Amino acid sequence: MKLLIKNGTVVTPEGERRADVLIEDGIISEIAETVKEDCKTVDASGKHVLPGLIDIHVHLREPGYEGKEDIESGSKAAVAGGFTQVCCMPNTNPVCDNAVVVSYIKYRESQVNLCKINPVGAITRGEDGTAMAEIGKMKQAGAVALSDDGKSVMNSDIMRLAMEYASGFGLKCLCHCEDKDLVGGGVVNEGYNSMLAGLKGSLRAAEDIMISRDICLAESLSVPVHICHVSTYSGVDIIRSAKKRGVQVTAETCPHYFILTDDIITSYDTNTKVNPPVREDKDRAAIIEGLKDGTLDCIVTDHAPHALKDKQVEYNLAAFGISGIETSFALSYTYLVKTGHLTLPQLVGKMSAKPAEILSLTGGCLKEGAPADITVVDLNAKYVIDGAKFVSKGKNTPFNGYEVYGKIVCTVVDGDIKFGE
Ligand code: DOR
Ligand code: ZN
Ligand code: ZN
Repeated sequence: MKLLIKNGTVVTPEGERRADVLIEDGIISEIAETVKEDCKTVDASGKHVLPGLIDIHVHLREPGYEGKEDIESGSKAAVAGGFTQVCCMPNTNPVCDNAVVVSYIKYRESQVNLCKINPVGAITRGEDGTAMAEIGKMKQAGAVALSDDGKSVMNSDIMRLAMEYASGFGLKCLCHCEDKDLVGGGVVNEGYNSMLAGLKGSLRAAEDIMISRDICLAESLSVPVHICHVSTYSGVDIIRSAKKRGVQVTAETCPHYFILTDDIITSYDTNTKVNPPVREDKDRAAIIEGLKDGTLDCIVTDHAPHALKDKQVEYNLAAFGISGIETSFALSYTYLVKTGHLTLPQLVGKMSAKPAEILSLTGGCLKEGAPADITVVDLNAKYVIDGAKFVSKGKNTPFNGYEVYGKIVCTVVDGDIKFGE
């Protein structure tokens, strides 16, 4: 089984070069200026050939919420978005807090056979914040990290224990940072626009307090920690200074936090409702700075598909979340690279090598001998985002009508074309 990707520009975090890529039996066997081989060929003339994109924060909703998404529809959406590998959050029903659910997801991954799926196990049983989940057994079954995503573990002593256990098993906690009491039912960022809209706001402090707490725990215990979906300028500062002190902290953000501000909430479009909420321009600018200086290590989607009925209700009642996996690359390319904030190799690093490194996943590199997980993109292709056309069951995007550059041409996983061509 051979596949040749010809005439493209190969991009890695180290730089760009014109090269052909030959794949044999799922492994990249040769990268050279010209490779001659009589086999199936993808013509990548004028296109860019990237290491397969990796998203370490998605919600696939299965088991339990298949009306919103399932492992098959989510995987189809992932490869359509150029992702060869994802990590799925445990806020399913039942919660992925034990080895059986982890194994079920791994089984579904092999059945669906599109992108690689790495389950994230819950930190606490039922994500209820009171008792630790079966960390060791979940790791054995294939969990790559732990999170109670959707909420914070409010009890700091339980969080401490979890972080110690997790590190003992070589796993990281992925922290959704939100002080539940301080959020107190807020649905948007607290500020001028929440006042104007008459919607209950949530302070930056609600996020920052938990970012600080989790960093304090990681620092005191000398264990690693990963901060999810950073949305505040102050959170970026907290992480930056922790990194300077040598704390083992990594962090992610999402396209909506470096593109949108809470000006959009006055439309009452429930597709703008996401947790943490989109904030103000100084937050947006600081997040871009954080991406540029490496404070924010990687870009994730927090792909949170919801059914129409979960969003077609009044703002206060609508579900939090954005279906983001099909727009992440184009939005990131358009708003970070075309604007000059990041180079293309830097963006590629934040969407493949870094996420792999953070969770010690195999992948995220395009070199001879590596698994052939590859994404081919057409950076000149311009299109208008239309959520109705998403492959995902979740059509919930605040980016309808946005004109972006960067179409996914082809997604290759272990040498097999899973999308395009
Ligand atoms: O907006 C969000 N949606 N934030 C979360 O933390 C959870 C997610 C979901 O599961 O829908
Ligand atoms: Zn979250
Ligand atoms: Zn999430």
